[in-house]
Amino acid sequence: MTASGGPSSAPIQLRPFTPADLQAVLRLEKRVFPLDAYGRYEFLNLYRWGRETFLVAVQGERLVGYVAALLNDSEKEGYIASVAVDPEQRRAGLGTRLMNTVVDKLRAEGVASVALHVRAENEPAIGMYRRLGFDVEQVEPHYYPDGMDALVMRRVLGER
Ligand SMILES: CC(C)(COP(=O)(O)OP(=O)(O)OC[C@H]1O[C@@H](n2cnc3c(N)ncnc32)[C@H](O)[C@@H]1OP(=O)(O)O)[C@@H](O)C(=O)NCCC(=O)NCCS
Repeated sequence: MTASGGPSSAPIQLRPFTPADLQAVLRLEKRVFPLDAYGRYEFLNLYRWGRETFLVAVQGERLVGYVAALLNDSEKEGYIASVAVDPEQRRAGLGTRLMNTVVDKLRAEGVASVALHVRAENEPAIGMYRRLGFDVEQVEPHYYPDGMDALVMRRVLGER
């Protein structure tokens, strides 16, 4: 953090989530998803089920983003449960970096495709996913608690 308390230019590092990150993740989650934030229980389950694919982005002491993915071993499918970037750090490639890192980890586990749900109105996220090679597979009407539809998007992981 800079002396002014604004975003610093220290490098942003990605590392696995640990329970010591929980409070900072919950703070970011509440800021970013006021309508349907995951709570403590959901994040601890994501940690339990997907340790290597729950990553946080930290800049010095400050948590500036995270991505949590799950692996369905039997179906060789990955699922992005959530991804978020601090509003002050957006449009600088961090969301893409988090996604690419987690997709690489899923690929290394033998995953053939990665799916996710996104609010049908969430243009920034849909734009990022499209650029990352995700396509809309179907619409799930009224998926979210406020009645908003979800797009199910999927990326098939080919050879690279
Ligand atoms: C979606 C989110 C993670 C993107 O993070 P980010 O670090 O800003 O993303 P990037 O800088 O890697 O952007 C990659 C591309 O996504 C698209 N994109 C990102 N933000 C956008 C916006 N506000 N409007 C339109 N397109 C956008 C652009 O194509 C962008 O590439 P460009 O900047 O070269 O044009 C971030 O906006 C966020 O945290 N949103 C709130 C949480 C959320 O909606 N998560 C997804 C839930 S399914």
